[in-house]
Amino acid sequence: MDASLIKTVNKLQDAFSTVGVQNPVDLPQIVVIGSQSSGKSSVLENIVGRDFLPRGTGIVTRRPLVLQLINRPSQNAKADVIVKEETKEPESPTKELNDEPDEWGEFLHIPGVKFSDFNKIREEIVKETESKTGKNAGISPSPINLRVFSPHVLTLTLVDLPGLTKVPVGDQPKDIEKQIKDMILKYITKPNAIILAVTAANTDLANSDGLKLAREVDPEGSRTIGVLTKIDLMDQGTDVVDILAGRIIPLRLGYVPVVNRGQKDIENRKAINVALENERQFFENHPSYKSKAQYCGTPFLARKLNMILMHHIRNTLPEIKSKIQVVLQKYQAELQSLGDPLDDGNNHANIVLNIITEFCTEFRTIVDGSSNELSTF
Ligand code: GDP
Ligand code: NA
Ligand code: MG
Repeated sequence: MDASLIKTVNKLQDAFSTVGVQNPVDLPQIVVIGSQSSGKSSVLENIVGRDFLPRGTGIVTRRPLVLQLINRPSQNAKADVIVKEETKEPESPTKELNDEPDEWGEFLHIPGVKFSDFNKIREEIVKETESKTGKNAGISPSPINLRVFSPHVLTLTLVDLPGLTKVPVGDQPKDIEKQIKDMILKYITKPNAIILAVTAANTDLANSDGLKLAREVDPEGSRTIGVLTKIDLMDQGTDVVDILAGRIIPLRLGYVPVVNRGQKDIENRKAINVALENERQFFENHPSYKSKAQYCGTPFLARKLNMILMHHIRNTLPEIKSKIQVVLQKYQAELQSLGDPLDDGNNHANIVLNIITEFCTEFRTIVDGSSNELSTF
């Protein structure tokens, strides 16, 4: 299946990093850009399906957040069997389940600590943001790295960024506009970044900071998706149908309209599943959108992202393959220069070789097996 291809690419990256090779393969990342408070963090959170990102009016996101979602099948089925077989402790049959949460986050700056409480993840993001930038609206280009493991996510890497803003406030530098622009460009200039250009639907698309910046690095629009937020806040009688139909600013990959939680919903702690259900009802009942409701909302955005990502990976496979071959040859040569691989002291080189060989094989199998399926995109 599609997800296995992406999962293998992530595993490959992990394998390289365990042997000290960082980012051997320049994997596609999905980067969210747009004006301050256009709803970037809300969009990301809805895609993940969990509450964990600081959101709100004003500059809330002040450092890049590199978020790697990793799909991991539920372990509960297995654990159930263990619990049933071990009848010695009937008092606490759920202990086994609680020891291994289904969903958790891990930060690069606190290795080995599993956050299963997503509110604690948000607190840690706030704390870690303030440790580098202070409390007074300062910004920093130094990223926070978070991995979320869950059976309910598609395997994707997403980047949340501070919003484009023009007037400095608090401890922000005079050239805040340029600093944030440079920070964003660093992520979206990479030819394999997929850009989610977020624009609030109650603002003018022609003035969209996100779309303007996207066009600078992706003039063909071959890796930019338009996301229109705050559809619920549009004046009555107006809609985004002309934008969706490509009649205003056409984008090759199109636009997806979404409804996120408003500030009141955040304050009232409206649950994400309730918000997603409300979003579905909104599009299904709206006179402008109900005939095309399956092309609206967060679930459609997530599916679209996954397809684009797979398509993108498929196109970069030859490059990834040749990079793997180069690394493989390098380690084989190193191994040979160390002499008999069974000798003491060669374990490290051996492990490296085994890992890489294993992944080359797995990778080739998956690539060959899925190329037919992918070409139907
Ligand atoms: P960011 O600064 O671009 O990351 O935007 P946030 O996700 O932090 O959202 C900024 C504010 O806009 C918050 O108060 C959100 O509740 C609100 N917001 C975002 N998207 C929507 C939407 O689709 N509808 C409504 N009503 N409010 C939204
Ligand atoms: Na904001
Ligand atoms: Mg934000």
